[in-house]
Amino acid sequence: MERLQGKTAVITGGTSGIGLETARRFLAEGARVAVTGRSPAGLEAAHRDLGERVAVIRSDAGSLADQEALAATLRSMWDRLDILFVNAGDVTHRPLETWDEASFDTLMATNLKGPFFLIRALLPLFADPASIILCGSVSARIGFPQSSVYAASKAGLLSLARTLSAELKDRNIRVNGLSPGPTETPAVDRLGLSQEQAEALREEIRRLVPIGRLGLPSDLAQAAVFLASDESRFIVGTDLLVDGGVANLCRHAPLSHRKPALSGRVRLSRSDRLRRVGPLSSAGSEWRRPERRQD
Ligand SMILES: NC(=O)c1ccc[n+]([C@@H]2O[C@H](COP(=O)([O-])OP(=O)(O)OC[C@H]3O[C@@H](n4cnc5c(N)ncnc54)[C@H](OP(=O)(O)O)[C@@H]3O)[C@@H](O)[C@H]2O)c1
Repeated sequence: MERLQGKTAVITGGTSGIGLETARRFLAEGARVAVTGRSPAGLEAAHRDLGERVAVIRSDAGSLADQEALAATLRSMWDRLDILFVNAGDVTHRPLETWDEASFDTLMATNLKGPFFLIRALLPLFADPASIILCGSVSARIGFPQSSVYAASKAGLLSLARTLSAELKDRNIRVNGLSPGPTETPAVDRLGLSQEQAEALREEIRRLVPIGRLGLPSDLAQAAVFLASDESRFIVGTDLLVDGGVANLCRHAPLSHRKPALSGRVRLSRSDRLRRVGPLSSAGSEWRRPERRQD
């Protein structure tokens, strides 16, 4: 039996990465699917990839008018909506001093304000039961340098999982967060790095994840299927971390990745550990490390 048989689902930012892979999984599990995105090239590629069965809709997640228009389009297609996956995200990372009001507002509109008003616009369409999944980030739980605005937006979005679950539970609408750790998506290739630099960054990130690899879009998509399906019917207002242990296990490089001399009984001071591992940073990326500290 397919786990989403007969359900209708919309995925924002479903033309690439986690959203695109989730669209494929939802389809395979029997759902009728619509995805959104902005760039014409991305929309066209998703249409080719997903085929005629999937509605590919241009919609800017940061525009309130587009959220209303998206809700109207979905109402014209379907008589009910079972699953909303809020996945589109602005992942800008920058030092505090480089932020201005316009870029702050753009990010918040995409990651928090747009999703809030999309949920409001879709209220008349949500089925009983319905599942709303909000794509957060492990960054909402950890203080990564240069992630201030992004992490705050994701923390706000994840807060909606709790408050809106409380508000919508009598309508049998569950809202949950789904928080990726570092995940191998085309987002990594949009950082303007050479192939060599990108591979070096990936290797660096791999060493920061306790299980020793980046997440795959399929890791997130499988979790999204679970949260979307009735299998998770008792899970409400929570945040499912799919992060290879980053939030709960990783503060420093795992022992198994240290040089052999350090893996025995040697006990490192905190400053030694910082010198060897370095704090996380994220210049231009969610997952970049800065220059080593010389304390
Ligand atoms: N990859 C990671 O390491 C990671 C880690 C933690 C959290 N996340 C979260 O996971 C989600 C998906 O990220 P991803 O890595 O899969 O990224 P991705 O491969 O770059 O895909 C992003 C998707 O969102 C769309 N999008 C971006 N801004 C949009 C907007 N304003 N309106 C509508 N669509 C928009 C993009 O299409 P267009 O460009 O055509 O608009 C694309 O379809 C994001 O919310 C991100 O914050 C990712």
